[in-house]
Amino acid sequence: MSFRTAPLAVIHDRDKDSLFSEDLRAAIDREVAKYPSEWKQSAVMAALTLVQDANGGSLTRALMDDIAAYLDMPEVSVYEVASFYGMYDLEPVGRHKVCICNSISCLLNGSEELIDHVRERYGIEPGQTSADGKFTLKEFECLGACKDAPAVLVDKVYHERLSPASLDRLINALD
Ligand code: FES
Repeated sequence: MSFRTAPLAVIHDRDKDSLFSEDLRAAIDREVAKYPSEWKQSAVMAALTLVQDANGGSLTRALMDDIAAYLDMPEVSVYEVASFYGMYDLEPVGRHKVCICNSISCLLNGSEELIDHVRERYGIEPGQTSADGKFTLKEFECLGACKDAPAVLVDKVYHERLSPASLDRLINALD
């Protein structure tokens, strides 16, 4: 199942005194339009996702401040959302994200083995990026794919019932 969307061109539309490009603002506006006008802050998660995707997979303080201003909400509220959910990254990441679920079903079905395998083979811990910048390893809470554990999200694509060997094949196929 794929949730991939084409990244929008960002960022730094200096002419308009905004960190966001026109395309990005239009995409955020489409999300805002899904809610009553007095609840535009409801689009904060969609906005964070769009901006993160457009910024190479991570968020900066300045970008979160711009989201807050754009949605008329306190900056701290944007930081709270971005720091609470595991899909947002507040530090630079590799070209891809390999997110291994380590909640109970996956734990019982080999997720620790997957994490240990990446540790040993690539020399990185969860939260770290491979030396070649190819991917960042993330340890995730339940991905909602428990019946086919262990589950791994690579960028925005789910992969299920993985073994160390099949995870390796996935990583090898990344550019
Ligand atoms: Fe891993 Fe639910 S516990 S997907």
